[in-house]
Amino acid sequence: MKEKILVTGGTGYIGSHTVVELQNAGYDVVIVDNLSNSSADVVDNIEKISGIRPAFEEVDCLNFADLESVFSKYQGIKAIIHFAASKAVGESVQKPLLYYRNNLVSLINLLELMPKYDVKGIVFSSSCTVYGQPDILPVTEQAPIKKAESPYGNTKQINEEIIRDTITSGAPINAILLRYFNPIGAHPTAILGELPNGVPQNLVPYLTQTAMGIREKLSVFGDDYNTPDGSCIRDFINVVDLAKAHVIAIHRILDDLQKDKVEVFNIGTGIGLSVLQLIHAFEKATGVKLNYQIVGRRAGDIEKVWADPALANNELGWTAVETIEDTLLSAWNWQLKLREKGIQ
Ligand code: NAD
Ligand code: WQD
Repeated sequence: MKEKILVTGGTGYIGSHTVVELQNAGYDVVIVDNLSNSSADVVDNIEKISGIRPAFEEVDCLNFADLESVFSKYQGIKAIIHFAASKAVGESVQKPLLYYRNNLVSLINLLELMPKYDVKGIVFSSSCTVYGQPDILPVTEQAPIKKAESPYGNTKQINEEIIRDTITSGAPINAILLRYFNPIGAHPTAILGELPNGVPQNLVPYLTQTAMGIREKLSVFGDDYNTPDGSCIRDFINVVDLAKAHVIAIHRILDDLQKDKVEVFNIGTGIGLSVLQLIHAFEKATGVKLNYQIVGRRAGDIEKVWADPALANNELGWTAVETIEDTLLSAWNWQLKLREKGIQ
């Protein structure tokens, strides 16, 4: 019998790619999403790629009774991947209570339901944002957690603590916390990708929209950082590579392969790429010239961060394999597909 996995936020950007990879690996997926930042069409698109329609429930994780009804309807959920969250850093500064409520209460509801329905473990979407500006690069999982730069970042830190405290208190569950670096790109079929809401705040969606002519020019926020070309450095991770790390994490939970009841892994490439290098890689991969301009620094930006992914490589047997050129090409093909569909 196929094992049943609940994916919250499964119609979102990373969630949808992960659902496809879970299905490819033989898991039976139930998606819960309130569609606050995604659309129900994504369920059709998942089916187009995998050939399997995942179960979908339009439910808000904040609603305990509705969430519980999913566990009773789909008996035998073995593990959860919890993507559902609000994720816009700037918005979190404007609306902190919305972020604290959504990101903390959703997780608390799931943790309360897990023992009652015999759910063995949870994979949680954490972020490299918990490290702030690391003192040592590449950053390992042992690096100290720095004071959060935003309410959003704080919710990730508190979420990690909530999971640890719950398991320390004796709850019969396990957890894997995946700290993602900067997820980019789209499915190679261009059937799934990121659908930014309004003006994109993240680099790659803004870049592809500029290349498409939707935005006039890309602003590069600062060229006076202490980096080789002066622009910030990030670890850009392909979204399908990232999705596959979740499948391995689920397998690890279900097959009792964990060394600790709570494990933490960096999910990045280990390669630090500057914003300007990324722009040039995009131009090379797509042959499209990008209109960009150096402007002042953006408040709150980290100068440089990239992962030491050795623990994930060695313990999970997971490694990022996609090249930056292929990843940027996938982002561009997705942008072209959006135009074809008349979206932006
Ligand atoms: P996304 O917004 O595309 O996906 C999140 C999904 O969760 C959306 O479909 C949204 O409708 C849903 N959702 C939000 N609140 C909900 C609720 N209360 N109940 C049910 N559904 C709800 O975001 P994403 O980029 O796919 O991110 C997924 C997770 O990964 C998030 O937890 C995010 O914080 C984390 N993360 C993202 C990045 C990134 O750069 N994209 C980096 C690190 C961590
Ligand atoms: C990347 C680099 C910008 C836009 C954010 C969150 C983080 C995580 C991932 C969830 C930076 C530069 C950007 C633009 C630019 N999310 N940039 N022009 O800030 O690394 O991380 O998303 O957990 O928590 O903070 O990602 O894509 O916004 O920026 O020059 O128009 O691109 O200054 O150096 P960031 P980003």
